[in-house]
Amino acid sequence: MCGIVGFTGMQEAAPILLDGLKKLEYRGYDSAGIAVMSGKTISVNKVRGRIANLCEKTKDGTSVPGPTGIGHTRWATHGAPTEENAHPHLSNDGRFAVVHNGIIENYLTLREELLRDGYQFQSETDTEVIVHLLELYYKGNVRDALLKTANRLRGSYALGVICSDEPGKIYAVREASPLILGVGIGENYFASDVTALVSHTRNVIYLDDGEFAELSGMSIRIFDCSGTEIRKKTTRILWDVQAAEKGGYEHFMLKEIMEQPGAVRAAIAPRIKNGKVIFEELGAFLPALPDIRKIIITACGSAYYAGCAGRYALEQLCGIPVEVELASELRYLNPLVDGHTLLIVISQSGETADTIAALKECKSRGAKTLAIVNVVGSTVAKLADCTVYTWAGPEIAVATTKGYTTQIAVLYLLAICFADHLNRLGKDEAAMLDTLQALPRRIQQAIDMNPAIPELAKKYHENHAFFFIGRNTDYAVALEGSLKMKEISYLHAEAYAAGELKHGTIALIDEHQPVIALCCNPFIMEKTLSNIVEVKSRGAEVLALTFRDNQKILPVADDLLFIPKVDALFSAVIEIVPLQLLAYYVAKENGCDIDKPKNLAKSVTVE
Ligand code: F6R
Repeated sequence: MCGIVGFTGMQEAAPILLDGLKKLEYRGYDSAGIAVMSGKTISVNKVRGRIANLCEKTKDGTSVPGPTGIGHTRWATHGAPTEENAHPHLSNDGRFAVVHNGIIENYLTLREELLRDGYQFQSETDTEVIVHLLELYYKGNVRDALLKTANRLRGSYALGVICSDEPGKIYAVREASPLILGVGIGENYFASDVTALVSHTRNVIYLDDGEFAELSGMSIRIFDCSGTEIRKKTTRILWDVQAAEKGGYEHFMLKEIMEQPGAVRAAIAPRIKNGKVIFEELGAFLPALPDIRKIIITACGSAYYAGCAGRYALEQLCGIPVEVELASELRYLNPLVDGHTLLIVISQSGETADTIAALKECKSRGAKTLAIVNVVGSTVAKLADCTVYTWAGPEIAVATTKGYTTQIAVLYLLAICFADHLNRLGKDEAAMLDTLQALPRRIQQAIDMNPAIPELAKKYHENHAFFFIGRNTDYAVALEGSLKMKEISYLHAEAYAAGELKHGTIALIDEHQPVIALCCNPFIMEKTLSNIVEVKSRGAEVLALTFRDNQKILPVADDLLFIPKVDALFSAVIEIVPLQLLAYYVAKENGCDIDKPKNLAKSVTVE
């Protein structure tokens, strides 16, 4: 969604802001802008569309000199994606410029009040009330004006602010929307995402809700919501710039698919010690495990599908009933949870609005909460009782790949760790740990076994719709496989539990609907094979995903994708890989903008 950057120091701000905004492009946006301060003059440049347009408009930043500034990529919520609605917004007296991520829920009331007071609005955005409130409350002290303004706002916001009375200073305010300060030498930064900071500094400070910061080239001062100055620790970002760049691949998505063996290894390997799964993060929680009567997994999109895939191992190994709920549903479900419920929240970004709301709702009702998160210091990570990181590294492509597989890997580890703690594993434990430790290698094999995928994409890319079918763990993977196909190739894809076809959907099957049949779970293989025969007899072409030595599939499949043989309880993390590649190459055949699919955002911070 929207992105924010801010810079102050001795260098020219505009090129640094433009560079930072480019790093945030992956979040999804439809307009962009920068405000640069030179002496007491603020110049604002905004464009509809891509950052490239902003670079052209400002001659790569050279036409707007000045050592201090703020920038923004906007993903339209309130008001169309126009230049007027793009940020930064200026106060009527031209003294303040503001960029904002999030949503001001009470903006209509504030707007009416400000209109009555004679303020002129230039945009349809909720954000513009902020800059007029700053003008209203400014009596010569920016910090006071910020505090008074923040007190009037309801909703979520990360703000970047400059004031022409304070050359060389940038202000950052955080409430329920991520904001990170970058600590440089003689220069300082802020951004909504560390990706925009790492090429300048790896030393960062995570702001918490209700905090704001005043940055100059030489100092960073941080205040709480009462205006009292506080001290916060600086964290060192360990991954480097390379990790956030394409490294020779045509798209971030392909790079991230190929990174999965390493990412899953980073998620698993450090947590297996002396034949046991050890989560140091769970120390305080594990003693409460025997009192847990129900586990609810909640998340959105692919993270929800990761929950669907991981629930089998959790339920079967721990013997505790597991429900998987969409966070956008759970938050309004009046959930029946209490101190005997464990809520597992899954989120790559840790900033998904519905996931945060579901977490808060269940926590307030007494559930124990555990988060599986990739982005360190994110809101979900902070809110949950304990957090397990997936260590996938930065994921830039909007469509998640390594984010999803590392979430499942962590669920497998949790299943074994919990089951061990509940004394339910016995001699099977060693074999399971061997399986888990081999997963990174198996993922690499799944990549290497399928060199025909680009050719298969040429065969299938002109179809307008696909069915993905499977049962049990295969069905869980079908859900994610079909999401990958539709979000990046814009082709309709529907995942169906194979056994459900006869209950209606089989009416849609004909020679124009290829069926991607997942057949990797021996326990249920015969049943899926009969479903494949049913769709074939209605004319569908079948592209089957299965083990290389599965002879039974040969008579019924037109084409094949392969995975190495793995215990079905832990195979989802492998099965998805050929399907990610298939979606990628189909989207490429169709000329789609793979890393930034239309209308999608990397981090969905609004409901
Ligand atoms: C799909 C995708 C989304 C996210 C969903 C949740 O490829 O990336 O469906 O999985 O928006 O995001 P996080 O995991 O950041 O909460």
